[in-house]
Amino acid sequence: MQPVLDYLKRNQARFVAELCDYLRLPGVSAQEKHKPDLHASAQWLANHCRQAGLVATLRKTEGNPIVIARTPRRRDSRRRQPHFLVYGHYDVQPPDPLELWQSPPFEPRIDGRSLFARGATDNKGQHFAHLKAVEAYLKSGVPLPCDLTFVIEGEEEVGSRHLAKFLKANRAELQCDAVVVSDTGMPDKDHPALTYALRGIIAFEVTIHGPARDLHSGIFGGAVENPAMALSQLLARMRDGKGRVAIPHFYDDVRPLTAYERREFKRLPVAGRDLRRLLGVKRLWGEQGFSAMEQRSARPTFEINGLTSGYQGEGSKTIVPAWARAKITCRLAPGQRPERIRKIVRDYMKKICPPTVRLEMEAGHGAEAYLMPPTGPHARAALAALRMAFHREPVLLREGGSIPIVNEFKKVLGAETLLLGLGLPDDNAHSPNEKFDLDNFENGQRLGAFLWQELSRGEF
Ligand code: BES
Ligand code: ZN
Repeated sequence: MQPVLDYLKRNQARFVAELCDYLRLPGVSAQEKHKPDLHASAQWLANHCRQAGLVATLRKTEGNPIVIARTPRRRDSRRRQPHFLVYGHYDVQPPDPLELWQSPPFEPRIDGRSLFARGATDNKGQHFAHLKAVEAYLKSGVPLPCDLTFVIEGEEEVGSRHLAKFLKANRAELQCDAVVVSDTGMPDKDHPALTYALRGIIAFEVTIHGPARDLHSGIFGGAVENPAMALSQLLARMRDGKGRVAIPHFYDDVRPLTAYERREFKRLPVAGRDLRRLLGVKRLWGEQGFSAMEQRSARPTFEINGLTSGYQGEGSKTIVPAWARAKITCRLAPGQRPERIRKIVRDYMKKICPPTVRLEMEAGHGAEAYLMPPTGPHARAALAALRMAFHREPVLLREGGSIPIVNEFKKVLGAETLLLGLGLPDDNAHSPNEKFDLDNFENGQRLGAFLWQELSRGEF
């Protein structure tokens, strides 16, 4: 085992340089113009996996290719070794708004122990740490106590549209004892975490159609409904004064937090004031009766992600716009079914939409929340590995983000996912100036090194 840790220590500078190469590839899955960059990212990653000693292939899908890289299987296969998957994604969020970046998003920059680039923490840096841990085993000649397969996809940030089908079609190859994912966070550098729950999600767009074309607001304004105003009023009715979603039956199936969970939440670092300062808001806001930590990780929401209508250019233009549109996502708590929530949101919006305009609703991606009991042997092994890698006592977390595919790992492969995040609250995932902490990069590699030993101990 020591040679693995020594290898990691010796090679840090090279690993960081390689991660920078990876980060230069702008694989933005939301934007059509980046298709070639997504292919280049997958190709780069597959080549890199080969250099690390893995057997890597690019698998075509109807969308972006999936990189499958496995450890070379032993010849002597009399004793079945455990098999684990490591999942990650090479696609990244759009870097906009560009003007807020202190250095260009696809020109990685190191400042102290922070590596700045789009995709640094979400998710290239995090799965790269696992890759380096496995490289350390393969190159230092220490036998891995298990078989490993990396599944790195290119559509996570747009809802993992094609991966579920791929899992079904390749079930035998991907059959495994558990899945490991580092694509979440930890409360701070002193608290490594095992995340045992994620929120689900539904995405959709609402368009309010008004007049057939933009109209002169002096000539027609006042006699025709303004779609931007109608949409605003509609959206304003989606929540009440207590910070709750005001759509009837929205909370019907939400599984409540247990008393134990609520106590555990209180013990976590990140007090309200830190959060307020970190986020740059005057005051925090949220559903009454729940702490900020609970609100942002365990309670469902209705969020406007984008709102567009009318003239956005320089100066003033006096029009009644022809349409108004909102991009919306609801985060879901365990118990809420995406398709049911989609229906009750649609029905309610249609019901209260005024007859003076036409409402159109287009469905986007959706996924259930994830909840796994953090008490089994795999979770215990993961907690032990976190303790060894970080020299700190790990915490159990629920997190508010979504990783749609983890439910499919359970349904299709029957495997639980261990969420071992390396991101920090100030890493700026999905925001300008995204970064990855290089200490977490190194500790993440150590985590990989210990994890496979702990998970393969055979008490299962
Ligand atoms: N890494 C995140 C998910 C995440 C972040 C989980 C923080 C927990 C804490 C992932 O890349 C992501 O952003 N997922 C999307 C999924 C969506 C587009 C279907 C999300 O949560 O918005
Ligand atoms: Zn993300």
